[in-house]
Amino acid sequence: MSASYPAIRLRRTRASIWSRALHRETVLTPADLIWPLFVTEGRGVEEPVASLPGVSRWSVDGIAARAKEAVAMGIPCLALFPNTQPDRRSDDGAEALNPDNLMCRAIRAIKDACGDDIGVLTDVALDPYTVHGQDGLLDEAGYVLNDATIEALVGQSLNQAVAGADVIAPSDMMDGRVGAIRAALEEAGHVNIQIMAYAAKYASAFYGPFRDAVGSRGLLRGDKKTYQMDPANAEEALREVALDLAEGADSVMVKPGLPYLDIVRQVKERFEVPVFAYQVSGEYAMIEAAAAAGAGDREALVLETLMAFKRAGCSGVLTYHAPLAAKLLGA
Ligand code: PBG
Repeated sequence: MSASYPAIRLRRTRASIWSRALHRETVLTPADLIWPLFVTEGRGVEEPVASLPGVSRWSVDGIAARAKEAVAMGIPCLALFPNTQPDRRSDDGAEALNPDNLMCRAIRAIKDACGDDIGVLTDVALDPYTVHGQDGLLDEAGYVLNDATIEALVGQSLNQAVAGADVIAPSDMMDGRVGAIRAALEEAGHVNIQIMAYAAKYASAFYGPFRDAVGSRGLLRGDKKTYQMDPANAEEALREVALDLAEGADSVMVKPGLPYLDIVRQVKERFEVPVFAYQVSGEYAMIEAAAAAGAGDREALVLETLMAFKRAGCSGVLTYHAPLAAKLLGA
């Protein structure tokens, strides 16, 4: 008998709920989620971020409370970003090296509250600490210096490691920084601190609300195209990933997320390593705007996009929708 209609009817396995459950190829659980959180000064402070409806900056005590919620919902990891006070920002971003900066206080508060029940991933780049909003140190012409920046990033990484970070995530796109950070962590005895490299990070228009959240949007002069990647390039993303893996990255990230799922898939097929994607602030804002405009159902949009990351090959996703998704999936 020939394998064609009507012997084959693909709708047969879709006809009932039990059968659809049985044939589902990809699963999404709260354990696939990394929840990015913004930290701000003060006590008992919650500051909503206007361009990210539903997302707030929290003072350190609030961050610890969010961490406990995350544990209860089965979210395995948080990602932290500081909104550094303007008077603590400088040309060289030296606040990144302060053992008592917002970031370090937040890391310690989470670890005090939750211990090893949750992982803490920390962003390494200077933009939340500089007056110019660039991720590194500038020369007189405003060009972001590679090698001098690496030294600062190594110091920032060690500072976060000492405070208790579990995963160091360099998002700066300097050449060679993963190797330098790995060597410094090994040397200091932090052999089990992971590195998740923002390996393929594009110069994207989707980061706007994030820059509001960390307070760098009004500061940023120009763009980040001399270090973040051209959205036109895919081959180059594979070279970036290969180098970061060779330098000791434990996992790699593609960012932004949904518009770059082709990159996720290629990285997964080529390297067979843990791949993560960052569904960034502009993607979150787009879903919220669509839902608010009645163009789609918020919960369905959130779960469908997150499933798409898993289907493309992601081990997990950084998403501001993590608490909503975890609640929906945990039911
Ligand atoms: C900065 C950094 C950015 C994001 C994460 N780390 C912004 C940028 O590169 O300008 C963006 C995340 C988001 O948009 O949600 N190193």
